[in-house]
Amino acid sequence: MEFTSESEKQQYYIEQCRALILAKEQQYGRKLTACVVTFGCQMNFKDSEKLIGILNEIGYEQTEDEHADLVLYNTCTVRENANLKIYGRLGYLSKIKEKNPAMIIGLCGCMMQEAHVVDKLNKSYKFIDLIFGTHNIFLFAQLLYERLMSGHKVESIWEETSEIVEELPSVRKYHFKSGVNIMYGCNNFCSYCIVPYVRGRERSRNPEDIIREVEALAADGVVEVMLLGQNVNSYGKTLEHPISFARLLKRVEEVDGIERIRFMTSHPKDLSDELIATMAESKKICKHLHLPIQSGSTSLLKKMNRKYTKEDYLLLVEKLRSAIPDIGLTTDIIVGFPGETEEDFQDTLDVVQKVRFDSAFTFIYSKRSGTPAAEMENQIGEDVVKERFSRLLNLVNQISKEKTTLLEKTTQPVLVEEVNAKLEHYVTGRLSNNCLVHFPGDKELIGRIIQVSLKEAKGFYYIGEQVN
Ligand code: 5AD
Ligand code: SF4
Repeated sequence: MEFTSESEKQQYYIEQCRALILAKEQQYGRKLTACVVTFGCQMNFKDSEKLIGILNEIGYEQTEDEHADLVLYNTCTVRENANLKIYGRLGYLSKIKEKNPAMIIGLCGCMMQEAHVVDKLNKSYKFIDLIFGTHNIFLFAQLLYERLMSGHKVESIWEETSEIVEELPSVRKYHFKSGVNIMYGCNNFCSYCIVPYVRGRERSRNPEDIIREVEALAADGVVEVMLLGQNVNSYGKTLEHPISFARLLKRVEEVDGIERIRFMTSHPKDLSDELIATMAESKKICKHLHLPIQSGSTSLLKKMNRKYTKEDYLLLVEKLRSAIPDIGLTTDIIVGFPGETEEDFQDTLDVVQKVRFDSAFTFIYSKRSGTPAAEMENQIGEDVVKERFSRLLNLVNQISKEKTTLLEKTTQPVLVEEVNAKLEHYVTGRLSNNCLVHFPGDKELIGRIIQVSLKEAKGFYYIGEQVN
């Protein structure tokens, strides 16, 4: 068969799979079900929307129950805990498969890009049917077809890719908001981080493709987009016609129907004055920035290969706050990086106190084999790390609590996201600064931006009331 594009080829395999699944449907007298479970970050969630889009076109009915005809785990490997979670759940899946040998179990995502993981799976988890990595996710239909036709395990991992395949099916979890990939991979090689090894080199999508996707989303009722990349601040630098991330934001802002723009993740070293000015002028870019600091100690930041100092970071925050006074700032912090002394840790506490983050994700350092930090001397003992971690968490939580009170009793625009699972007749919405508010309302409000009075700050969220 001759194909003019990769997406056309994959469309062909989708149809081939559809015919096979249809035959099984007739044989079983029911629809076939698929369960996609996603671990990790926004990127993985976005990838899963593509995988589910393909499965839907093939004819599978989606379910959250792992007693399905096909179960696909989209894995994460950023910390060891993520891997352990997968091995644990695979044990549980094997029991289900014992009772239903026709079941297909697939694994994809970041963990599959590590050779030692795939070796272990091949040796000890022989019941897995399909394994593929992050670089060839667009081949999913083709690989599934191979598996369905051959009845044998299919494994396909690529070391690298420069390819970006556009125009594959995708299904959105929310009808009113969507992630949009603007770049893939990472070139930063922070010394603790496995991402550059499992997601490959930085590749930006063409701005035209991104804008076309945003326009189509807007036409389909999406009001909020989240631009996704491992390091969005370096977007566009390697394109044939380079363009800055700030310029891209301006173009996204021009799309009618889009009312809110968010982005993830920013690296402090690449955050430009142009971006700060663009955020300050914009009517649509949300007043929120996630700016991972990782550590407050300049010497540790150097060992982490972060390329900024404690003072650089504080200066950046000062610039951001003077241009956008009500900006919500959140961050990631790692505790227990090799060689971290009490003095280094005090620097981290000091930055947290000075910046007063609205919230922070705190992580215990996890040794990832293959990264430079895994080879460093002075790995920190568990007791010391745990004690530091709890000191940090207490401080972070106390500040978050204090910060939420600042908007108490004000009225803010809120995008309503979902019916509240715990409080009856309540819905949950998000402020521009990313904070959540729960207030009385029903599902008709979902997807709308409405004014909500923030009656009471509850630490990390508010209880509010709709203002007419
Ligand atoms: N150990 C702990 N945390 C890590 N992160 C990345 N790699 C590691 C690691 N080896 C954290 C960083 C990053 C976030 C997504 O995960 O803080 O910003
Ligand atoms: Fe990992 Fe650093 Fe790249 Fe983020 S910027 S993905 S922490 S290497």
